[in-house]
Amino acid sequence: MTDAPIVLHEINGAVATITLNRPQALNALSPELMDALITIIAELDGNDAVRCLVLTGGPRVFAAGADIKAMAEASPTAIIERRSIEKWEQIRRCRKPIIAAISGYALGGGCELAMLCDIIVASETAQFGQPEINIGVIPGAGGTQRLTRAIGPYRAMELILTGVMLSARDAYAVGLVNRICPVESFLAEAQRLAAEIAARPPIAVRMAREAVRYGAETTVRDGLEIERRNFYLLFDTEDQKEGMRAFIEKRKADFKGK
Ligand code: CAA
Repeated sequence: MTDAPIVLHEINGAVATITLNRPQALNALSPELMDALITIIAELDGNDAVRCLVLTGGPRVFAAGADIKAMAEASPTAIIERRSIEKWEQIRRCRKPIIAAISGYALGGGCELAMLCDIIVASETAQFGQPEINIGVIPGAGGTQRLTRAIGPYRAMELILTGVMLSARDAYAVGLVNRICPVESFLAEAQRLAAEIAARPPIAVRMAREAVRYGAETTVRDGLEIERRNFYLLFDTEDQKEGMRAFIEKRKADFKGK
């Protein structure tokens, strides 16, 4: 009998769902799991039939963080040479929106992986946190920066210095989560939202996403430049002509992704 793949994926229409599949270790993000995840995301990014991705760990756990056992005894040089965290940037470079569908723990690298995504749908059991302080380190895959930008410096500081977890409700209250659903339906809701985005003109989706993301990491002035450039560029697409004509002709637009 062969082992089940460490990361699964399936495509349904224009939506691809990726599932982390290392339940015995609460989906701890081992180097092998991250390599498999990055490979699958790159493959789906290159598949024109796919327009939106959903990333989940299933109903029990999203991910309990980087694999502590794989790094406990490593030297600083070994950790640097693995380049594990630099590789995460390849997920960031995916040109399609990724919706995180979180149930159970999203801790440490698990929380950071969720924050690499564009939208976060949580189940009522989701718990978010950056507990690295409890094992003698700090978040290393973006937590100090992205959590701070997502929920503000004071709340982020408390979470990062204490390692205490946020419930789904508290995460929703501070703006880390888009919506909360029962555990039975959180994944279906993330997939429904993904299908809704996938039905929009894909080049406009890409340009809008780029402007929002870029703007979150730079000055308002630079962000406005990108927004304006992308707005003008979209007038070069067939979907812009189709979208505006369809509005004027009072019919549903038929977007081609061109
Ligand atoms: N790495 C490796 N293995 C892990 C793991 C992790 N991050 N989290 C859980 N596991 C393993 C456990 O060792 C255990 O394996 P064994 O059965 O072989 O002993 C199995 O998963 C189940 O875990 P528990 O028995 O601990 O389950 P629990 O329900 O009692 O507790 C938990 C769940 C609170 C999430 C607890 O497992 C825990 O605190 N995990 C570690 C969380 C953490 O510190 N994450 C940050 C990691 S560092 C990081 O992510 C750095 C970064 O920024 C990139």
